[in-house]
Amino acid sequence: MTITPESRPQLPVVATPHYARGKRAAATCRFKCADACAHPAPNLSANEYFRDIASRALSRRVMLGGAAAAAAAVVVGAQALGAPPAAASVAGKKPVKGLAFGAIAAQPMEQDAVVVPEGYAWSPIIRWGDPILPGGRAFDPAHQTPEQQARQFGYNCDYLDILPEDPQHIRSMVETRRGTKGLLVANHEYTNPDIMFDASYDAATRRAIERAAHGMSVVEVTRDRTGTPWEYSRIAPLNRRIHLGTAFTIDGPAAGDDLLKTVADPTGTKVYGTLNNCAGGTTPWGTVVSGEENFHGYLRVNGQDARDARYGLRNTATRYGWELDDPRFDGNNPGYENENRRFGWVVEMDPYDPTAAPVKHTALGRFKHEGANVILAADKRAVVYMGDDERFDYVYKFVSTDRMREGNSAAAREHNKTLLSSGDLYVARFDGDSPASEIDGSGAVPSDGAFDGTGEWLPLVLDGESQVDGMSLAEVLVFTRVAADTVGATKMDRPEDVEPNPFTGRIYVACTNNSNRARDGYPGVDEANPRGSNRDGHVVEIIEDGGDQTATTFTWNLLIVAGDPEVNDSTYFSGFPADKVSPISCPDNVAFDADGNLWISTDGQPSSIQKSDGLFKVTLDGAQRGRVEQFLAVPRSAETCGPVVDVRDSMAYVNVQHPGDDGSWGAQTSYFPDYLADGETVPAGAWRGPRPSTIQVFPAGAGETPRGQHQGPGPFREPRGGR
Ligand code: FEO
Ligand code: CA
Ligand code: CA
Repeated sequence: MTITPESRPQLPVVATPHYARGKRAAATCRFKCADACAHPAPNLSANEYFRDIASRALSRRVMLGGAAAAAAAVVVGAQALGAPPAAASVAGKKPVKGLAFGAIAAQPMEQDAVVVPEGYAWSPIIRWGDPILPGGRAFDPAHQTPEQQARQFGYNCDYLDILPEDPQHIRSMVETRRGTKGLLVANHEYTNPDIMFDASYDAATRRAIERAAHGMSVVEVTRDRTGTPWEYSRIAPLNRRIHLGTAFTIDGPAAGDDLLKTVADPTGTKVYGTLNNCAGGTTPWGTVVSGEENFHGYLRVNGQDARDARYGLRNTATRYGWELDDPRFDGNNPGYENENRRFGWVVEMDPYDPTAAPVKHTALGRFKHEGANVILAADKRAVVYMGDDERFDYVYKFVSTDRMREGNSAAAREHNKTLLSSGDLYVARFDGDSPASEIDGSGAVPSDGAFDGTGEWLPLVLDGESQVDGMSLAEVLVFTRVAADTVGATKMDRPEDVEPNPFTGRIYVACTNNSNRARDGYPGVDEANPRGSNRDGHVVEIIEDGGDQTATTFTWNLLIVAGDPEVNDSTYFSGFPADKVSPISCPDNVAFDADGNLWISTDGQPSSIQKSDGLFKVTLDGAQRGRVEQFLAVPRSAETCGPVVDVRDSMAYVNVQHPGDDGSWGAQTSYFPDYLADGETVPAGAWRGPRPSTIQVFPAGAGETPRGQHQGPGPFREPRGGR
């Protein structure tokens, strides 16, 4: 095994031509988020959330010299670039610290390949359609059925974790090796019938298969020794599929409220299925939380309640058409007016107990939950950070009433699984410390050298009581967006993952993009969202006051204002030289490695910078703070999801979601991950196409995998056949 770390990023040496605007696959927009961008952003509230006040005290840095201080920061970064990399290792030996790699070049967006650094290889662990339950057959795309799909790994995997065999080890896992047995947990966000099925399927069967392909999977994985690739277990006790037919419990303060009752569930406490599960998190007590995101794409409403429009819900036929199969998906059907309100929650699932019903927690509020990430406060209360992924929507925090109990006893586990059922709910307001005149929408850094300021967690629920005038507790939780409008939260550029660094407690908010920022009729820029027509996104770092995760005030700064610095001079990397970073755009999911580095996966680079999406390491500490290095790139039309980075094993894992989404069943544009052999073509009428998959990246030569491995840098493969 040989790892060949580079001391410098292998940045592109060929100048990137000025690009024309790209566009993501129409199918991705249609099925993933019901063409959200084609509709007005639903936050039409008059919420005067933030007006920078010129009289606000200027920061200490302004008083120290303004622009000169900013320039000094750049020089520090430039000098540091010549320093040896923190992750240096002896050739041929595993790095003692860090996942050593030379950054790959940004990859062309049309390329249908996974690209990993020199010295690494990749292979799929599990693919859409791989059987995981008894009775599941090998994937046969010509003879797929709903019953088979419900026994197979679902479609479009997003959230990912690989949990230890013993949940007691979860809290130390980021610092120690994963073992030889684990539990792979993944979300399945949405489906794309255009490329999943050939013409032989009737529409109703297709829709039933799609419902079975949504949800979540739990799959046991094994390997011979640490640091080698995993293999999934086709039959194993903890393997599980959750889909639209799975019974969920609704709990928390809004459970049982009239707002959640339907004719099929007069108790308002039980619902079948989960929808559009995007990102998520692993709790310190060994459960997984998952965000129900763009649920509005599946449910038609009757148009009688203006609050539904705040969620983008409409009285029009849905793209999925499930209302043709089941009356509950259409709020015009008497008794189902509230069905839509039973989605849009944070779901908690115990992967170690396949018999336990997953739970929808109303205490965490209802919005388009990207995900949820839990950290323990010093007093062991659970603190959950959450983003509402919509243009001009908000960042939230939940603090549990009760404290986590240590130990793996049945009593401790049962107690800990109630922590998300009761607590305080807040929404974030961000105040800048620079004069409004210096935030001009261009991305120019203000004279104090940073986009930064203070913030406040505005209470929506405290001690089981609504804090919002005119709204009951249940209304605050079911119409959380409306409640947050009322209290004056800051309208953000689509907050996706919001995740605390387990080592520092600092929180990172991936604001993925918002091309409507400062456009006519939309809110203008502010210091926390400083660019007009923000196509590339940015990352906010939040530092809770006193290092207390339960604090109600904080300071913040922008770690990264993203983009391709070669074609965009509005980027910012905490003072690190922009010409020494990998281009990055549309940050989506974040993760942390055992060295405290931030890892960002992206969704949307083909649209914004015409590059494949990828996984990027960002140094947070020291003189190289803000340095971005690309680790991998995903195939055509795919986004990179759910990163897990294991520096002790020199391994990384990602979910590759929606590869080849721009194709059709007869003209596929991706053959990831199995690809066609050289010269192979697809016989007329046969189906070959992309399979969204969980992949693992490992040191080349670390071990064989059932499906072989691909060496990095990955092969460039033109799509062949079927076109
Ligand atoms: Fe499913 Fe916000 O991405
Ligand atoms: Ca500032
Ligand atoms: Ca996402």
